[in-house]
Formats: sequence, structure tokens, C-alpha cells
Amino acid sequence: MTSSSSGQIVAGCLAPHPPHLIYAENPPQNKPRSEGGWETLRWGYEVMQKNLDALNYDVLVVMTPHWRTYVGTHLLGLPHFKGISIDPVFPHLFQYNYDLKVDVELSTAISDQIGQAGLPTKLMKNPDFRVDYGTIISCHLVNPLWNKPIVAISTHASAAYFSPDVMQEEALKLGMATRKAILGSGKRAVLLASNSLSHRHFTHEPPLPEDMSFEHITNHSQYLWDMKMIGLMKDGKSKEMVSLIPDFTEQAISETDSGALTWLMSAMDFPKIPAKVHAYGTVIGTGNAVVEWSGI
Ligand SMILES: [Fe+2]
Repeated sequence: MTSSSSGQIVAGCLAPHPPHLIYAENPPQNKPRSEGGWETLRWGYEVMQKNLDALNYDVLVVMTPHWRTYVGTHLLGLPHFKGISIDPVFPHLFQYNYDLKVDVELSTAISDQIGQAGLPTKLMKNPDFRVDYGTIISCHLVNPLWNKPIVAISTHASAAYFSPDVMQEEALKLGMATRKAILGSGKRAVLLASNSLSHRHFTHEPPLPEDMSFEHITNHSQYLWDMKMIGLMKDGKSKEMVSLIPDFTEQAISETDSGALTWLMSAMDFPKIPAKVHAYGTVIGTGNAVVEWSGI
């Protein structure tokens, strides 16, 4: 794959972060208790987790939609963050005690490369900073032991404040900057794009959130868009898939507005191998795929 004599991107993943998937698993870090639910997605994550573990990677690098920075791109810049994360939309499902380590050396290297690409960037050095739930959920689902350091990259809200095309241009540059930094780092990195696909969700929740008899895609047009994007991933047509992201973002109200999927594909230099799609499923009506690109 994207290798050099020093550093390597050993895998890249689409790793969405519905808090429901943590709620359903009842890990000790999360306070609310559940009776299960969303097994297709959770079992897909289990397979991907085993595949990634076998790659013996050094660091997880995640781009998250829920750390929105309005001036440039920020990265966690202290070695340790600890606190409680509460999902603002689903506080009854996600109240998670996190305790995570950051690879500050790699955060700094990526930030430096972003700066050299001419984009504003900053390291977050407030020890009381509350790490966002996108970062926490995606990292937990691929590494519930939290035994690897992470790098977390914010998303600049350029799709909302400018346009999806501006987002796309920036995310392509951020991907290239991330790639350069990793190749020069001597580390084996796994990249995570922490976003759902189609993202229009129900405005009402069933009395029991994990009652799967209520779960389905919000509408068929979203399903068709999701299948179009996943089909291109499976066919190894990542460049064509990325070219559709601005339209997909607008028409499917997709969480690709964050730029995370564009960033991932750019950082991996647009993989041509078929993606491994471990699962597709809906969460309160949104479309979610667990996808791995590895073995290039
Ligand atoms: Fe989200």
C-alpha cells in the first residue's frame, strides 16, 4: 500500500460513529444500559477490528465530523485526555468515560504538513478539552482496548459555510498532508474516516431505542445513493466515488460534508483495490457502512 522506507498507511477505514453501537454493546465506560441492537453493523466492526489487529499498527488517525473548527484544522496536541463525553442528541444513550493517549509527535508532523500546504492549522493544548464523540466512538469500535495512541483531526465546516466543492478541495489537500507526514514518521498508521453515508434521521425515537422492528432507512433515495457509493468502493473506483461526494453530500444529506471520506481516499492515494465492505445498516434511519481498504 502507501509505503515508503519509513512510514506506512497499513489500512484505511470508513468507521461511522452512531452512539447506538456503543450503547448496544454495554461497555463498562458507557453509563446507559441496553438490550442490544444494530448487530449487523456491530458484527461488521468485529471483523474489521480483527483484521486491523493483525496488521500490528502503531497509531489510529481519525478525522471526525463532530469536532468542528471554524478557522482551519485542529489536532489534539497533548499526550493524554480524560473526561466524560455525552452525545448532545442522544444523551440517554451515550455518557462515556474516556481515557486516551495521543501520538503528539505524529499530530505535530501532520499539522506541520497542513501548514506547509498553505492551510491554517493549530494543535489543541487545553488539558480540559472535551474530546468529541465521533473520535471516541470510531476509535472504540476498532480498538475497544484503547491500547494504541490516536491522532484526532477536526473538520473545518467548509461544506456548510462555503460549499461541498470547497470542502472537497480542502479535504484533498489535508489527505495529501496527512500522507506525507505518515510516510515520514516511521510509523504504521490506520486511518479512520468517522462518518455515516446518507444521514437524514428520524425525528422521533421508539420507546425502546434498540427495538429493531422500527429500524429502516429514512427513504429509498438515500438507500440508492448509499448503494451507488458502496458499489464504487467495491469495484475499486475510489477516484470516481470521490468525484461524486459533493453531489452525494447535498442530495443524501451525507455526513461526508465533514470531508473525512475525501481526506481518507486522498491520504491513501485513491486505492484501486476493491474495498472490503464488512457491513451496511441503518441507525435511526441513517445509512452506515463499515469498510476497509487494506492489503494494497
Ligand atoms: Fe455524527
